[in-house]
Amino acid sequence: MLDSRPPRSTKLSTKLATDPLFASCPDRRGTGSEKWDRWAGQEILPMWVADMDFQTDPVILEAIHGAVKHGVFGYTHEPPGFAPALAEHLLKRHGWQIDPASVVGMPGVVNGLAITARLLTEPGDEILTFTPIYPPFLTLPALAGRRCKQVALARRQDRWEIDWDALAAAVSPTTKLLWLCHPHNPTGMVFSPNDLLGLAEFAERHGLRIVSDEIWADLVLDETAGHLPLAAIDHPAARRAITLVAPSKTWNLAGLGCAAGIVPEAHLRRQWRGAGGGLVPMVNPLGYAAAEAAWRHGDPWRQRLLGLLREHAARVEAAVSQIPGLAWLPPRATYLAWIDCRGTGVADPFAACLAAGLGPSDGLDFGAAGFIRLNFACPTSRLETGLSRLKTAFSALSTD
Ligand SMILES: Cc1ncc(COP(=O)(O)O)c(C=O)c1O
Repeated sequence: MLDSRPPRSTKLSTKLATDPLFASCPDRRGTGSEKWDRWAGQEILPMWVADMDFQTDPVILEAIHGAVKHGVFGYTHEPPGFAPALAEHLLKRHGWQIDPASVVGMPGVVNGLAITARLLTEPGDEILTFTPIYPPFLTLPALAGRRCKQVALARRQDRWEIDWDALAAAVSPTTKLLWLCHPHNPTGMVFSPNDLLGLAEFAERHGLRIVSDEIWADLVLDETAGHLPLAAIDHPAARRAITLVAPSKTWNLAGLGCAAGIVPEAHLRRQWRGAGGGLVPMVNPLGYAAAEAAWRHGDPWRQRLLGLLREHAARVEAAVSQIPGLAWLPPRATYLAWIDCRGTGVADPFAACLAAGLGPSDGLDFGAAGFIRLNFACPTSRLETGLSRLKTAFSALSTD
């Protein structure tokens, strides 16, 4: 049975990770990398946006090379192997049986969210979401003429939890949709079966639809837990839910623009493209080739990556516990460290990090001033440099 307990801390190895797959990575400077160009020319180590510094899995590269060799890059819809590959992956990894006919390819999970706002709500309606949260959850509703209703997650001593009272207080007759992020970015929270059932019941009671963004589902670090898709719960509101997935976080493919929605209702699938208002392009054929290879053949690589990420989470834990005023809960999933800097007394922790040569994400963008988010999916030596700059950021300021 899955539960909400935090992970037991992984034993910290004193040597640097030696897995040759992840010991080094290509230099991304000057390649148009959003992550690396943000502070181009400055001595700032970028540990912000959620892409990894590693090359993708060689089996995926091979599939992309195969598609390039074919040499025709015309308009492409879901190739015949795409939906079955995803269905097999979901069954094998998460015990969830889906109908391949319910799969819709799309260029990204964010535009999938934007489409669901238009498909499932009317202008002026409210979309509920748990904060802190990945920034597009906060900004997309207004771009569609809808309103974002934020409900803060509660931090208990050793875990993040749904604040059911706050959720009940937030819902109103104009609330029509719940956007869940599961596993949750930025806290790394994995919602438990009881949470998911509670949310399905809540949705049913209040006539809400649920869209579950499960882009992080294949990066669960907590070995005592697994990922249970919301839509796999035996409840009518869960069976109607739309799930958004992608191989992009797990296999570092974000630039290839390929994601998928599991959209159980045929009439919504028919309306999907139209709801994009002509602004959402088709997926490119290289993205489809990469996604199918990832889901079919990418598990050994993913397992090795998880080993590295677990070790890195332990390294972050060791560093954060030595810096007075910093606090965090180890993420149960993702490669993101959500760090509470409020105890340091530093007014702008993001600026303090930049001054020390470290480029995290600013918690403000996630609706949480005083926090930073650190991406630890990089070679171990680079992580150690980042963690030493984190220490500098706060020791320098606390002695002022
Ligand atoms: C929760 C979540 N959803 C969506 C995305 C982005 O998805 P895409 O690049 O497919 O639009 C991210 C990227 O970090 C994310 O963390």
